[in-house]
Amino acid sequence: MSGVLETLSFLRDPDFARSRFESYGDVYGTTLLGQRTVFIRGEKAINDLFAQGDAVEGWWPDSVRKLLGPLSLANRNGADHKARRRVVGQLFAAAALKRYSPAIVALVDDLNGELLADAAPLALVPKLRRFAFSVIASTVLGLDSVDREVLFVDFETWCQGLFSLPFALPGSPYARALQARQRLLRCLGAVLEKAQRDAAAGAPLAAGGLDLLAGGLDEAGLPLSDDDVTEQLLLLLFAGYETTASSLSCLLLSLLQHPAELAWLQQELDGLPWPPAPGEAGTAYDSSRAPRLDAVLKEVMRLAPPVGGFFRRTRGPIVLADVLIPADRVVQVSITASHRYASGNEDLEVFRPQRHLAGGTKVTLLPFGGGERVCLGKALAELEIRLLAVGLLKQLTLALEPDQDLTLRIIPSPSPKDGLLVRACRR
Ligand code: HEM
Repeated sequence: MSGVLETLSFLRDPDFARSRFESYGDVYGTTLLGQRTVFIRGEKAINDLFAQGDAVEGWWPDSVRKLLGPLSLANRNGADHKARRRVVGQLFAAAALKRYSPAIVALVDDLNGELLADAAPLALVPKLRRFAFSVIASTVLGLDSVDREVLFVDFETWCQGLFSLPFALPGSPYARALQARQRLLRCLGAVLEKAQRDAAAGAPLAAGGLDLLAGGLDEAGLPLSDDDVTEQLLLLLFAGYETTASSLSCLLLSLLQHPAELAWLQQELDGLPWPPAPGEAGTAYDSSRAPRLDAVLKEVMRLAPPVGGFFRRTRGPIVLADVLIPADRVVQVSITASHRYASGNEDLEVFRPQRHLAGGTKVTLLPFGGGERVCLGKALAELEIRLLAVGLLKQLTLALEPDQDLTLRIIPSPSPKDGLLVRACRR
């Protein structure tokens, strides 16, 4: 139990991780729950890890591994893993994102409408969670709002199990999550089957991206089974939801807490169109057209990374930042600690987006991880975050309600404790 807490604190709590690194160095080992574990931070050690190829493999704690399932690409390695990344990656290629963009723009406008309709102070976090879930469920799966609602309830139960202790005692969050997993797989299987039937009957292209998975091949060049594809879809719902919802909540929180930076960003947004011109959503707010927005997003994810860290397991001995790591060690990479650590005397505790302009910082940013397992949905996440930021901040003024707890709960992903209470009006 103390091992679980130590792992979570390490991944999430910057002070906990920093004090350990400052005492023991950028690469140090310990034993957690009987597993020999090595913690690392900083550019040198992390780049060395990414360069290891087959000497390391993906690793997740037991509860996550079981709930994601044995077919999930997150639990696979080598050629198996690469083949599934190739198939699933098609859902996030530029052409696919172009297809999803009108649906995301419509979801942003719907959210704005909802916020304006509520005169009383409202909690933004639940609205942003719904938004993030709707984006992934309507873009990738092509679900309408009724089907999304059915899936959402089981999905929340399943997510709660991912971060609970992995004991399937009757009625425990973990046991409930295992049952929800079975229902979710059935539901996703039915969605996939319907998409395949529609495609076979020559129906017009559905809103989602499932047709892009047709013809996907495994490592031996054989078609992926439906069960295999279904388990990848479950992974995508999970990976794409909690993380994006967290980054949206932290983005709005940071800007509302820093009015000068918000005004600085809004000067740029005033010169940008909303909605983006047809077919241009992917580029209308990119780093060349919206450099301030880009800098703000980097700074938000630097200080509150949605994923605090990630893991690998060593298959043979490796060297990280000149330290020899034996085989069969779990390596935990702290994103949180790496984001607050750089040579020189930059103050990395303050929110200062301008540091990311004109090469003003030495800090290594890796909110999406890196190497062969870098986040598969990065392009979709970046697109939806940019669309929401521009669509919402250009059109609405949000005012923070007084007397609320704005500190972040950090597990599973950072989010303001009282749900970010605001009043919204037209700008
Ligand atoms: C702000 C939003 C997001 C952040 C910060 C984020 C971050 C991450 C991180 C740190 C990893 C682990 C990388 C590693 O092990 O090296 C990861 C993996 C992954 N992410 Fe994301 N992610 C986000 C959104 C998404 C979205 C929207 C999707 C898809 C819909 C997605 C799909 C995945 C998948 C499938 C993996 C596993 C990749 C593999 O094991 O090969 N993520 N993400």
